Amino acid sequence: MNRNVRDQASSLRRQQRGTPGNGPRARKIAVTSGKGGVGKSNVSLNLAISLSRLGKKVLLIDADTNLANIDILLGMSLQKTLADVVFEGAFFSEVLTPGPEGIMLLPGSSGVVEILEQDSTVREKLFHAFDEFERQYDILVIDTGAGLSENVLQFVIGADDVVLVTNAEPTSITDAYAMIKVAIHRNSDLRFQILINLAPNRGEATETFEKLQLAVQNFLNVQIDMLGFLPVDPNVPAAVARREPFLTLYPRSAATNAMMMMGRKLLKMPQPAAEEGNFLKRMFQGRSDD
Ligand SMILES: Nc1ncnc2c1ncn2[C@@H]1O[C@H](COP(=O)(O)OP(=O)(O)O)[C@@H](O)[C@H]1O
Ligand SMILES: [Mg+2]
Repeated sequence: MNRNVRDQASSLRRQQRGTPGNGPRARKIAVTSGKGGVGKSNVSLNLAISLSRLGKKVLLIDADTNLANIDILLGMSLQKTLADVVFEGAFFSEVLTPGPEGIMLLPGSSGVVEILEQDSTVREKLFHAFDEFERQYDILVIDTGAGLSENVLQFVIGADDVVLVTNAEPTSITDAYAMIKVAIHRNSDLRFQILINLAPNRGEATETFEKLQLAVQNFLNVQIDMLGFLPVDPNVPAAVARREPFLTLYPRSAATNAMMMMGRKLLKMPQPAAEEGNFLKRMFQGRSDD
């Protein structure tokens, strides 16, 4: 650890003093991809709903700072974003918006990471807010946006599980590999759950997963799991066009069945230890750009 990283970590420890002890913490699931346009936002939204149906208290965070659009998938018009909390003194209760089927949504706000960079007062405010989310919800599902930018990486390395979405295109697989390589270097505890999207059938989805798995095992010595696959399903774009989640609109579709199976599978996995704790703390500790 270089000196700046150590300084940041100890400053975060100082900020933590005075906060109550370790209660139960939300599980943090980041939905990401190397390449854009592979289905992250649809996966994030519908995965969040599947987990809510399975009895969890879920907060969906739209952290795609380039193309924040979960509110669009839900046909919402937003009054306020996270930026209003930080700069205008708005309450989180004004920003958190109820979504379908019991989920809560923290709508996207470009500039979240830029805000974090600015000053320690602002950072402390957000730190406490996320700390509170981790205590109030069972699960945070975070749509991180695509690619290897610092913004995306910070949300990825702060997570417990990374749902990495890819399709069968060589570019998408290569970019997924690059994401694993960079993220694991910053947080070796990350658990990668691969979601193959737009697969014609299970056999081809498995083939795609195995290509990625082989490269990851051979060159990075990292284990990855296949969370599952989403078939090409016309109900997905149809639901997008109607601004509703496919889970809600088409409960018997192939995509819904597949998503519910993946939700159940995630919940069967062991929860992370409580003291592994705070999301933002880990985000800062994982930084390597100092
Ligand atoms: N399984 C699927 N079957 C059919 N179309 C899909 C599927 N998954 C995603 N799509 C379509 O792909 C497009 C991109 O999805 P989106 O979730 O916005 O991707 P990202 O967030 O990665 O940019 C959407 O128009 C969506 O309708
Ligand atoms: Mg998106």
